[in-house]
Amino acid sequence: MYGQRRLADLRWVLRGIATNQIARLFPESYVRLTGHTGRGAVESSARQVADYFWSCFHDYFEILGVPRDDITGYLSGKTVLEYGPGDVPAVAFLMLAHGADAAVCVDRFALYRPSPASTEVLRLLLGDLDGAVRRRGDACFRALADPASGLAEPRFRYVRHDYGLSGLRDRADLIISRAALEYANDLAATFADMRAALRADGIAVHKVDLAGQRCDDDHPLSFLTYPRALWSAMCSHKNTVNRWRIDHYRRVLGEQGLEAVSLEPTTLADQRVIDEVRPYLASCFHGVTDRDLSWLGFWLVLRKPTSRVERHGTGDPAHAAAARPARRGA
Ligand SMILES: C[S@@+](CC[C@H](N)C(=O)[O-])C[C@H]1O[C@@H](n2cnc3c(N)ncnc32)[C@H](O)[C@@H]1O
Repeated sequence: MYGQRRLADLRWVLRGIATNQIARLFPESYVRLTGHTGRGAVESSARQVADYFWSCFHDYFEILGVPRDDITGYLSGKTVLEYGPGDVPAVAFLMLAHGADAAVCVDRFALYRPSPASTEVLRLLLGDLDGAVRRRGDACFRALADPASGLAEPRFRYVRHDYGLSGLRDRADLIISRAALEYANDLAATFADMRAALRADGIAVHKVDLAGQRCDDDHPLSFLTYPRALWSAMCSHKNTVNRWRIDHYRRVLGEQGLEAVSLEPTTLADQRVIDEVRPYLASCFHGVTDRDLSWLGFWLVLRKPTSRVERHGTGDPAHAAAARPARRGA
């Protein structure tokens, strides 16, 4: 916990502040030098990365209640917007191959650039496809069936923006993100962007990891013990988590006029973990209840409030799932 091992803390903080300044002054070089992929430091084979993106892709439809055989029908004609795709726009590619009309990826950091590594992942994913899905997959690239040529615009767009905002208006039918909202440097602006981008009957599905940040003592929540100003001095220009807890997400959703169709924890911390961190929490977290602190991740499905009436009786499984009343885990 911050403040318990003064010398180690001082080293950690000074290193954090220095690297934050490097990230401020040389953002592109910093991203390149740190080799941030978005999937953590574990070395994975291209096959493992491709399988990870397959699981991300299928998770969204499972949460929406769309059976695998219906994914193509569901995506047909739709525009998908993804926040924070990481270093390979693999989910966007799978969405396009399965029938989406267009896919827009938006990120605060330009982690993606066509490279041998990202090409290899896309090549493996393409090789996994059959029939009409394969033919659509082939057509996603600038040169037919050649992932090395890069994903072709205008159906695919990759946008880098200082706050990770798309600037779209009434365009997105499906908005997705995985392990990205916890990185948003202005969460309210991200939700406002999402609201503006969503079509009236659109839907957004997000998986958020609230325990992804490890400090040098490896306690899952010790990063919440750094005072807010210090955390900002160490991290504001880096690809680091914003530390907001579930209570803040609920508040911002309400403020931005978005309706949580479902909000479910993925992992809950034991009371022991909470008790260990509670005495050392930064003052900005003092008001967070034990229950809310225990949320270490969640799935969130959102829509615009006006879309409720339009969704009834559509027969669309995603709409049926979305019409279920929100269940609150905390
Ligand atoms: C942990 S990575 C997850 C990447 C990918 N979704 C995955 O599951 O592998 C977090 C992603 O969010 C992006 N990100 C950081 N700040 C963001 C912001 N303000 N808006 C949108 N994306 C952001 C990061 O650059 C990175 O691509």
